[in-house]
Amino acid sequence: MRRCVAPLSPLISSSSSSSSFLRQAPWRFNIWESFTTVIGNRVYDLPVPEDNTPFITFVLGGPGSGKGTQCEKIVETFGFRHLSAGDLLRREIASKSKDGSMILNIIKDGKIVPSEVTVKLIQREMESSDNHKFLIDGFPRSEENRIAFERIIGAEPNIVVFFDCPVEEMVKRVLNRNQGRVDDNIDTIRKRLKVFEALSLPVINYYSQKGKLYTINAVGTEDEIFEQVRPIFATLKVSK
Ligand code: C5P
Ligand code: MG
Repeated sequence: MRRCVAPLSPLISSSSSSSSFLRQAPWRFNIWESFTTVIGNRVYDLPVPEDNTPFITFVLGGPGSGKGTQCEKIVETFGFRHLSAGDLLRREIASKSKDGSMILNIIKDGKIVPSEVTVKLIQREMESSDNHKFLIDGFPRSEENRIAFERIIGAEPNIVVFFDCPVEEMVKRVLNRNQGRVDDNIDTIRKRLKVFEALSLPVINYYSQKGKLYTINAVGTEDEIFEQVRPIFATLKVSK
């Protein structure tokens, strides 16, 4: 599958940073191709604990890959609790908490908020939830995020779902979604894509090597994409 070596968006390649994107393309191709070999021959037979032990799903993908949209469908169909790291951080900004302005500046710059801050927000939600089947969306974005979660929460994900989407498609979706986000502009999108490539892909690769990764082809209609997602959760025998 070679979608990820398709020519990069002129929007990206017209920037002064395009050369580093292009230089990294062969590396990105190798990583992505190794993910795609994971699909297909998986046996979806993971047990879901019946007691209060959490069942944790990390949902990963670049900006505009459709994580949030698909999480809503998983919630409707399979009754998970959806925790979006980005939404929790934006809520923190809106509540004018002590970390709010620091978080805002980092989000505007497309960078990653210190892991401890994000993990504590996730922890608060997990601890106060009656539903113990979690979809944690947009997290971990870096190895540091991943390690902080393991340290603070003391758990690892049961499964990791990765929405694999070409850069051009992600840029198009983010620029068209009109949600009034401070980071949905082309300059910040470029930065977010670079951060995704440098910091998030290694995390995805880590879970691929651990055999926990389910890769979804994130191109198509919402319903078409959900038909790839459905079997992962359907065979978990999770009741609503
Ligand atoms: O996932 P979402 O696109 O909503 O994230 C928006 C921004 O929130 C990211 O670009 C990043 O600045 C911040 N974020 C973070 N750490 C996470 C998730 C999001 O710093 N784990
Ligand atoms: Mg989102």
